[in-house]
Amino acid sequence: MKLLSASLSAVATAFLLSSTFIQSANALSLTIRNDVPGNASSPILYGLMYEDINRCGDGGMYGQMLRNWNFQKDDSGTKDPSTEFWSAVGDGAKIALDDSVGLNDANKNSLRLDVSSVKTPAGVANEGWWGVRAQPDETYTASFFAKANGYSGKVNVSLQTNDGTVLASATPEGKLSSDFQQFSVTLKPKISSTSVDNRFVVSVDSEDAVGSSIYFQVFSLFGETFADRENGLRQDIGKALNDLNPSFFRFPGGNNLEGVSIPQRWKFQQTIGPLEDRVGRLGDWTYWNTNGQGLLDYMYMCEDMGMEPILDVYAGYSLDGSSVAEEDLGPYVDEVLDELEYLTGSKDTKWGSLRASHGHPEPFDIKYIEIGNEDWFSTTYDYRYKTFYDAITKAYPNVTIIETAEQSSRPWDIYDDHYYLDTKAMIGNYDHYDNYPRNGTGIFVGEFGTNVKGCCGNSSANLEAALADAVFMTGLERNSDLVKMIAYAPTMKRVGHEQWNPDMIHFDTEAVWLTPSYHVFQQWSINRADTILQVDHSDGEFGPLYWVVGSKKETAQIFVKMVNTGSEAEKVSFNLKNAAIHSQGVARVITGSSLDDENTKDKSTVTVKESTFNMDTLTSFTYTFEPYSATVLLLHLQK
Ligand SMILES: *[C@@H]1O[C@H](CO)[C@@H](O)[C@H](O)[C@H]1NC(C)=O
Ligand SMILES: *[C@@H]1O[C@H](CO)[C@@H](O)[C@H](O)[C@H]1NC(C)=O
Ligand SMILES: *[C@@H]1O[C@H](CO)[C@@H](O)[C@H](O)[C@H]1NC(C)=O
Ligand SMILES: *[C@@H]1O[C@H](CO)[C@@H](O)[C@H](O)[C@H]1NC(C)=O
Ligand SMILES: *[C@@H]1O[C@H](CO)[C@@H](O)[C@H](O)[C@H]1NC(C)=O
Repeated sequence: MKLLSASLSAVATAFLLSSTFIQSANALSLTIRNDVPGNASSPILYGLMYEDINRCGDGGMYGQMLRNWNFQKDDSGTKDPSTEFWSAVGDGAKIALDDSVGLNDANKNSLRLDVSSVKTPAGVANEGWWGVRAQPDETYTASFFAKANGYSGKVNVSLQTNDGTVLASATPEGKLSSDFQQFSVTLKPKISSTSVDNRFVVSVDSEDAVGSSIYFQVFSLFGETFADRENGLRQDIGKALNDLNPSFFRFPGGNNLEGVSIPQRWKFQQTIGPLEDRVGRLGDWTYWNTNGQGLLDYMYMCEDMGMEPILDVYAGYSLDGSSVAEEDLGPYVDEVLDELEYLTGSKDTKWGSLRASHGHPEPFDIKYIEIGNEDWFSTTYDYRYKTFYDAITKAYPNVTIIETAEQSSRPWDIYDDHYYLDTKAMIGNYDHYDNYPRNGTGIFVGEFGTNVKGCCGNSSANLEAALADAVFMTGLERNSDLVKMIAYAPTMKRVGHEQWNPDMIHFDTEAVWLTPSYHVFQQWSINRADTILQVDHSDGEFGPLYWVVGSKKETAQIFVKMVNTGSEAEKVSFNLKNAAIHSQGVARVITGSSLDDENTKDKSTVTVKESTFNMDTLTSFTYTFEPYSATVLLLHLQK
């Protein structure tokens, strides 16, 4: 059957005519072998790596809109707590941090408001994380603990512009007394556009309050969250993560698991339970982590996005280079076993019952545990790995264990390999695992990202980086019988507060925007094959074109993923063995006008363009790949 004719699609025609680029003289011809068995691809190949870096946790994906909401430490995590990010509102208001009035053991200070006059409302205001975003049609939920000396009336809560215009206000149920009580309220601003130059205010205007002191602790303000989770994710960031179609979630780090010193490691017990019981810590990325988002919140993310948790556990090594001695590891091992019981234990276990009391009676299934993080930094991994491995596998014999460095003390299931390389090196690794022994252990590329200027973390998130990522990922997918999981890193940054570049998702208080690498990762992830097909290249070699081809039984699709790293268009002829395809295919193309192209808040130049193209016959077609592009071709098999 001959299909190419007058029906050549309008889109394809427009594309060919408008092409100004030079056509390469190379002729590549690929034969897709649906007639020989392919390799099964890992069903959880694409996923997320998470740690709080670049202000992507507190003040980032964590939906808490208030900053310094419980006065446990200053923002740098190194100085005494203060009233930073809070101010007094009204001529008759004075604020101070009061360490003589605490809410509980976790929160030993309070924010004191002294009221001397209410000619204008007297109150406290929080400036948020570089602003407080107010959006039309969004409902905000606020809460706080408060008590008073000398006043037993109500308080008002409002969202205001920084010059005092009230956007929304409400009066919580209940009156202040001499004991702490929790107050909560919802706010719905009547506004027509989004703004961030706002503040959150709690105030009084009753004459009865004059001369009184009001004490506050554990404030909270949330807009609508991803999947409507209480204490959940900022909705737009949650959506950007979920749109990547992630199959797994590695958390809580990364370096941020390890602590800058042993006592400062991430401790799950400090991250669970009601917000007022959580205790923050100095994160490894030099700012205070509130732990408002904790272990159970991460598990809810896994549930809401359908991700397999990859639980990374502290293994006795911290970033100052110190290792816990072998004979002292006991309590650290117990901490991990307690954490696992919290997650997987029945309601009848000590920690399982605590989880149930926190709202999740059903035990979680933890299939993957990673012991430590980047332990090639240390010289002590052998004994540390052995100790944790023995204890974990004794209690959980079926769990898949991930090692983070080579060690020779115990077996492992998967090795976590990290790649922060420059463009040339990343592309050069397109075949890294092609001839890697299949000897029973798998690979987790737990962190990768092209740093166009070389490692580490001072490069642009441009088209060049995305294409090199795409080439590398093409090789990873081709080897996804061996490579079980891959994750880009770091995943996110708050623009202006980045500690590592590039990242996949950029955001500020107002908006989220996506890098070229995001679009590549997303296209590779959503167009997911279950079987990797053999591809014969009769003419031509890898470079400047790099490819992987896979099929998906359930949808009767074939995906051709092709990266053109060259400056010329490349025409490729395809033949399929033992597969008849529908006459029209879909092309999703990621490219730009220059390798330096980056997406900004105002303008995304590198996005996904979708078009259709026609087959020559039931089993053959040609396609011209644009210069500097990453393309996915979707072919439909005839039944
Ligand atoms: C709350 O705000 C309303 C409206 O401005 C005002 O009438 C009321 O007195 C306020 N109450 C308190 C306790 O400040
Ligand atoms: C481990 O897997 C085996 C085989 O699937 C099963 O019989 C056993 O109950 C599992 N053990 C645990 C502790 O989950
Ligand atoms: C499998 O091969 C890799 C690469 O040579 C090697 O590092 C690893 O130790 C091998 N695994 C086992 C279990 O022998
Ligand atoms: C990052 O790159 C810029 C521009 O090339 C350079 O000036 C700066 O020193 C670099 N910073 C680091 C930390 O390498
Ligand atoms: C399948 O994996 C083997 C290695 O185990 C490799 O030699 C072969 O080329 C792979 N097949 C495909 C279609 O990638």
